[in-house]
Amino acid sequence: MSLKGKDILSAFDFEREDLERLFKLADRLREEINDKGTLDYALGKVMVTAFFEPSTRTKLSFQFAMERLGGKVINFDVSTSSLLKGESDVDTMKIIDGYGPDVIVIRQKIPYFPHKVKDIVKAPIINAGDGPHEHPTQALLDVYTIWRELGEVDGLKVGIMGDLKYGRTPSSLSFMLTRFNNVRIYYIAPEVIQIRDEVLKEIKGKVNYMKVDKPEDVIEELDVLYITRLQKERFANPEEYERLKGVYKIDKKFLMKFKHIPIIMHPLPRVWELDPGVDELPQAKYFEQAKNGLYARAALIKEILGV
Ligand code: NCD
Repeated sequence: MSLKGKDILSAFDFEREDLERLFKLADRLREEINDKGTLDYALGKVMVTAFFEPSTRTKLSFQFAMERLGGKVINFDVSTSSLLKGESDVDTMKIIDGYGPDVIVIRQKIPYFPHKVKDIVKAPIINAGDGPHEHPTQALLDVYTIWRELGEVDGLKVGIMGDLKYGRTPSSLSFMLTRFNNVRIYYIAPEVIQIRDEVLKEIKGKVNYMKVDKPEDVIEELDVLYITRLQKERFANPEEYERLKGVYKIDKKFLMKFKHIPIIMHPLPRVWELDPGVDELPQAKYFEQAKNGLYARAALIKEILGV
């Protein structure tokens, strides 16, 4: 089954077989792009990127992916749009859709915004982050990176650390990991920013998980340590951010204390929680992970377009 014409709103929209197929396709496209530069699969197709929240990697890698597939990208620029005149986000989406794009990539600060517009928009929609809720294509490149680095996903122990309450990458990554067998997730965070109950409800019985307080309690057991930044922009109380700032900072000195160091991942941007000194360790995979985003997203776009 292909994902042709489908909306991607949640990490649960991918079945295991979809993931395995997309990972292989991403590897193939990597080779073809490295070999030929720009391909012609998406010739004549148009993608719109509509980002109502800041982004570097997600937007750029979607745009690069579409260009490398031979398609065209039109970027909707929020900062010079009629949103400033008071036009609603929903009307804006109707207008964009009316011009007939082949796919629309949306990032929004309102949770479930893509779900809300999916039935009024004809083009397939890809959710590129809806507030603290989900970021399914980040999970796609995260699990693709794990699969490439460790050869498999079944049976792995994955620590997810940092802002699990306001972050959207921990929820989508957790959802995607339920598609594999015998995975164990360790949620590493102080209680105030621990993983949301609504996320636990979704994964209960589908994956093993445990909440832990400190990275040192589990690090030796982990295959993957996935670090996230505190989502400063989503804290209602700035004092709480300041209080939590610096609680979990991973640096080289800390990691070198352990006999076994897992691969280190981070969706980026990093702020203070991951020291640049870690970059020189062979286990640091976050820049590779960001690069993988281009190929994982190219594979997804190619399937959705059915080209
Ligand atoms: C993440 C996001 O936007 O949720 N960034 C990304 O897409 N790579 C993580 C973050 O902003 O902390």
